[in-house]
Amino acid sequence: MAKPVLKTKLCDMLGIEYPILSAGMGPTLIGEKTGAPVELVVAVSEAGGMGVLGGSGFTVDELRDAIRQIKSQTDKPFGVDLLLPQKIDLGGGMGSRDIDQLPLSEVLKSIPKSHADWINKIKAEMGLPDVEVMVRMNTTTMRPKESVQVCLEERVPLFCAGLGNPGFMVADAHQRGMKVLGITGNSKNAKRMAQSGIDLLVAQGHEGGGHTGRIGTMALLPAAIDAAAPVPVLAAGGIGDGRGVAASLAMGCIGVWIGTRFLATNEGGALPVNKQRIISSTDEDTRVSTAYTGKTLRASYNKYHDLWAESGLAPLPFPTQVMVSSALLAAFIEAKKDDYVGGLAGQVSGIIHEIKPAKTVLEEIVAQTVDILSRRLPESVMLK
Ligand SMILES: Cc1cc2nc3c(=O)[nH]c(=O)nc-3n(C[C@H](O)[C@H](O)[C@H](O)COP(=O)(O)O)c2cc1C
Repeated sequence: MAKPVLKTKLCDMLGIEYPILSAGMGPTLIGEKTGAPVELVVAVSEAGGMGVLGGSGFTVDELRDAIRQIKSQTDKPFGVDLLLPQKIDLGGGMGSRDIDQLPLSEVLKSIPKSHADWINKIKAEMGLPDVEVMVRMNTTTMRPKESVQVCLEERVPLFCAGLGNPGFMVADAHQRGMKVLGITGNSKNAKRMAQSGIDLLVAQGHEGGGHTGRIGTMALLPAAIDAAAPVPVLAAGGIGDGRGVAASLAMGCIGVWIGTRFLATNEGGALPVNKQRIISSTDEDTRVSTAYTGKTLRASYNKYHDLWAESGLAPLPFPTQVMVSSALLAAFIEAKKDDYVGGLAGQVSGIIHEIKPAKTVLEEIVAQTVDILSRRLPESVMLK
């Protein structure tokens, strides 16, 4: 059977066959493998979409290695996603120390007493063990300038900023033939980012997994498209099959950025327990909470959400709150308190029922999108 054709301006801009990107997804909070690892990037790019590496948990050297691994496994274009926080302060000047890693117990000494007391109270009440975790201080998120430099040197085809405005590196990226993508959750930021010279903007609605804003995808897309014009927009948040892609293209997007659906694939980097939770979830089984990173973040519902909500504490700034959640998560996992553990995931979990190869997911999404756009609308729609 002939391959289906689904082409937009995005395909010409990036040199890809289908206007579908697998989203950059970072590591789990206790430093497991990244959500969008080399295997996923290669599988999606080879299948005709564009895979985007989740580079936020790597060290700078690991980032360079991962980029080179991708290049050695595919000739197709790919992307790299980094988080570029404006300010990094773990308290006590920790963010500026020139060290590779620190014991978590050491890092926790610099957080406010109220939060440290709360961690100890929970551990005592639940009988949790003391678990030592080494915290990496030299990740790309802690060293944004060096990490961007690696992407420039490696001439990564698409640089994506999952947090922060990448405007400062656009001129250098363009000089090297790269494209730059920003991500936003509201139209005010969409306008600001578009004015900074980026090539593409992802508008991610409230439904999405990971850090998320307050505006639902349906309301956000037209507003972001208007605000960002003439910079073209990709849709994100709640897209898991061809119905979501067809709707996004109909609304004026030139492509889509899909996270949770690609996470729950053979190549997706989530812990097996978290993949299982996605496929057993309904559309009601995720929550937005500041518990994990200090910013609003959507994850599969678990009892840690309730503990944090009941604490009455204010979240610490990103990434300091990650230390709080890491300390407890490591203890929950060690004590096998699975009810208190859940990975980042979006509301679209409710329509994901099977872990499959990423290539199959991409092919099914393309086929369904083409089917809808070329001939099939529900019977309830009548056209003259
Ligand atoms: C496990 C996971 C990790 C994520 N990590 C990042 C990240 O490191 N950087 C980023 O820009 N976005 C991150 N996101 C957000 C995704 O890039 C994407 O915008 C989102 O998943 C889209 O919504 P969907 O999950 O409904 O497809 C993450 C999402 C998930 C599910």
